[in-house]
Amino acid sequence: MLERAKALLQPSARSGVPPFMVMDVMAAAERLEAQGRTIVHMEVGQPAAGAPASAIAAVRLALGNGAHGYTAALGIASLRRRIAQSYAQWHGIEVDPERVVVTTGSSAAFMLAFLALFEAGDRVAVAVPGYPPYRHILSALGCEPVLIETNATTRWALTGDLLLAQHRVRPLKGVVVGSPANPTGTMMTATALREFIQSAEDAGIAVISDEIYHELDYAFRAQSAAALSANTTVVNSFSKYFCMTGWRIGWMVVPPSLLRAVERLQQNLAISVPTLSQIAAQAAFDGRDELENIKHGYEENRRILLDGLPRAGLDSFLPVDGAFYLYVDTSRFSDDSFDFAKRMLEQAGVAATPGVDFDPIHGRNFLRLCYAGSHDDMREAVKRIGAWLKG
Ligand SMILES: Cc1ncc(COP(=O)(O)O)c(C=O)c1O
Repeated sequence: MLERAKALLQPSARSGVPPFMVMDVMAAAERLEAQGRTIVHMEVGQPAAGAPASAIAAVRLALGNGAHGYTAALGIASLRRRIAQSYAQWHGIEVDPERVVVTTGSSAAFMLAFLALFEAGDRVAVAVPGYPPYRHILSALGCEPVLIETNATTRWALTGDLLLAQHRVRPLKGVVVGSPANPTGTMMTATALREFIQSAEDAGIAVISDEIYHELDYAFRAQSAAALSANTTVVNSFSKYFCMTGWRIGWMVVPPSLLRAVERLQQNLAISVPTLSQIAAQAAFDGRDELENIKHGYEENRRILLDGLPRAGLDSFLPVDGAFYLYVDTSRFSDDSFDFAKRMLEQAGVAATPGVDFDPIHGRNFLRLCYAGSHDDMREAVKRIGAWLKG
């Protein structure tokens, strides 16, 4: 009887996705802090700043007004309009508010997009190095993530040629592309993204463009796929530029033919997105000046690291175009980035994420540093890493 119950309660094979190692680094850093150590946190990809004042003020007001029931599954109409308007204001692109869907962070947008577009068993390409939940969500949904290695020759981005080569091996149904990318911080030029989308869509491969790091672009302006094709599903979020990770709110711009499917899925999977977060998100657009100041802070952090890290001994990294990540090649010091990150944490007091989290193939040679903290933290990190590597 006990054996039968045990068999019943076995987790499903599809739930066997790997853990997100960055959370393990964070826990190890917290244990050291509990022992009295000071740690410079560069492991987790989240802004040190909170939501803009305009968002907080709107929520305070809404709390006094009482009615916080469900909203329409696709989101509050005025928020959908405000999101569409931001494309016109910030990118000069016309986006129909009807195509905007509010989601519980971009994480939920990926689930909705994958479910709306793909059947179990479909092959969907993702770049390596890349954000691990793309492939883990796909496998939990029964799809087959197809890893495509990128390297310096393609500026660490997917290209049409790389994609079509995989498509010839066995047909692909979709591809996820991100620019600026996590963990690399590199971006695709407008031309590269246009050519990529064209190649994919000509071959019948659906494109999902993760634009969560848009507005955090330093090398050149990030191009939205919304300007390039009405058939691409665009995913974005209030987590990064808007500094609202814990509010769990994001959005998609979906092709008109997918809208009803996404609406039905959202109705059933979530009913609607938290109402207060939607109110906060709409008001966050009024915090543009505050958010631009925060962005300038990241630019300064980037400058401190680009100037300081080579002197500290870490002089090989991928193009640091956008987001708030620097992906460092540590192969000169170790071929085990997990062990390197562990020693750097314990001995130098700097927490970073090992590349193996993002790249099962070459990640043992890389570390990801997040520079969304304070200028002082960046200077301290450079000092500590330099002393540690030279000591
Ligand atoms: C590339 C990328 N996409 C999506 C997400 C998910 O973010 P959220 O669900 O908070 O919008 C993250 C979070 O770090 C990310 O780095």
